[in-house]
Amino acid sequence: MSTVDWNAETYHRVSEPQLKWGLEVMAELPLRGEELVVDAGCGTGRLTAHLLERLPRGKVAALDASDAMLQKARAELARFGPRVEFHQVDLGALTLKLEADVIFSAATFHWVADHAALFEGLAGLLKPGGRLHAQCGGRGNLRGFLTLAREVAQTPPFAAFLTGFDSPTHFAAPEDELPLLSRAGFVDAKAWLKDAPTPFATAEDFRTFIGVVVLRHPLALLPEALKARFLDEVTARAAPQYALDYVRLELRATRSVK
Ligand SMILES: C[S@@+](CC[C@H](N)C(=O)[O-])C[C@H]1O[C@@H](n2cnc3c(N)ncnc32)[C@H](O)[C@@H]1O
Repeated sequence: MSTVDWNAETYHRVSEPQLKWGLEVMAELPLRGEELVVDAGCGTGRLTAHLLERLPRGKVAALDASDAMLQKARAELARFGPRVEFHQVDLGALTLKLEADVIFSAATFHWVADHAALFEGLAGLLKPGGRLHAQCGGRGNLRGFLTLAREVAQTPPFAAFLTGFDSPTHFAAPEDELPLLSRAGFVDAKAWLKDAPTPFATAEDFRTFIGVVVLRHPLALLPEALKARFLDEVTARAAPQYALDYVRLELRATRSVK
């Protein structure tokens, strides 16, 4: 699990792409309104709030590993009172057991390296017949952007600090996920990829977003004096489109009743 924490305040402000994708995924999730739903990787709670609004008689268990994200989510979701409970957990090593009706998750599973362990842990959160309804980064995600950023990372003065450039992400392919879901006790599993090219209105919007989300890990390896310069150089290389070549992996499955 990553030890580089998030800048939750800025993420909350700039995570419009994640909010848009998450709301699209949530719109396809049928809910009666009284279920217990897990938000696996709740972040600052922007999507969790929308889930809670769809569950007037239900509850949400909001799970995340990050201190900063959970602190922000608690503040953002205080108005929902006891209808939301928080659990600080590593989704890659879950020991928590729940009898949830649904697991919703957005923009999170690609931060977990071991998807066999992830799906096994998730199965332990669902009642038999419970549903997994998730989206995360998938095979090919950010391939073009990361190539460009790595090229900058390999030039001086950054190269001396960025030998461990790679972010700890796992952009899985649908055909790799299906057997893992089956082994973890899920049935009727479906997995597919979707291109989600994401342009930004200005160079400054693009620079802020990559700094807080995509280049979080390499930035943590750089001395303070070089962080802004690295972002400037990557942003300059991304001109004039200022776009990220996102690819989303959709996952749907049902926990076996057996
Ligand atoms: C990009 S944010 C997405 C947050 C929210 N779902 C959204 O769409 O805005 C990814 C979240 O996953 C959490 N996360 C990453 N790895 C995790 C792990 N191993 N266990 C639990 N949470 C994790 C991060 O702390 C972060 O809050």
